[in-house]
Amino acid sequence: MRPTRDRAWQTLTAYTKGEPLLRHALGVEACVGAYAARFAGDEELWRATALLHDFDYEIHPTLDRHPQDGAPILREEGWPEEVIEAVLSHAEHLAIPRDTPLKRTLFACDELSGFIQACGFVRPDGIETLEPKSVRKKLKQPSFAAGVHRDEVYRGAEELGVDLDEHIAFCVAALRPLAARLGLRTGEAG
Ligand SMILES: [Fe+2]
Ligand SMILES: [Fe+2]
Repeated sequence: MRPTRDRAWQTLTAYTKGEPLLRHALGVEACVGAYAARFAGDEELWRATALLHDFDYEIHPTLDRHPQDGAPILREEGWPEEVIEAVLSHAEHLAIPRDTPLKRTLFACDELSGFIQACGFVRPDGIETLEPKSVRKKLKQPSFAAGVHRDEVYRGAEELGVDLDEHIAFCVAALRPLAARLGLRTGEAG
């Protein structure tokens, strides 16, 4: 099996029907995919990994099963161990060392991409003019997008070795072309 982005989308959509989770997967994919060039990663493999990281969440919605019980399904499908190990490493409770650029990038983009989407939902032009400063301000409001683990956002950027503002700006830019698909307003008439 060739570990392509499209193959990952097939697997993801076979197990995931909910639009919010699909949007989450697409958002993380956009950010991780954009980082592949910066860290000399295999973009296709990185995109596939990002799409797959929560593929089993609908069928395993608790941490005693997600993502560890998804791994055998991926193995069965023939995904490379590099992908499977990276998928497993995004879960803090498994305490797998994030010892590759792919693992660090996935972790750094997971919570942040969802948070950026949440910021975009409450703005008239979505994420078109969203600046790191306002994302950081919202991060300090615990009631806003309360499900997003702030500590993981901060630690993710730190482990990646990218300044938080730069990381936010990079991810916002990666998400912009996808705004309509993510259900965000784009500032265009209509
Ligand atoms: Fe997850
Ligand atoms: Fe996730």
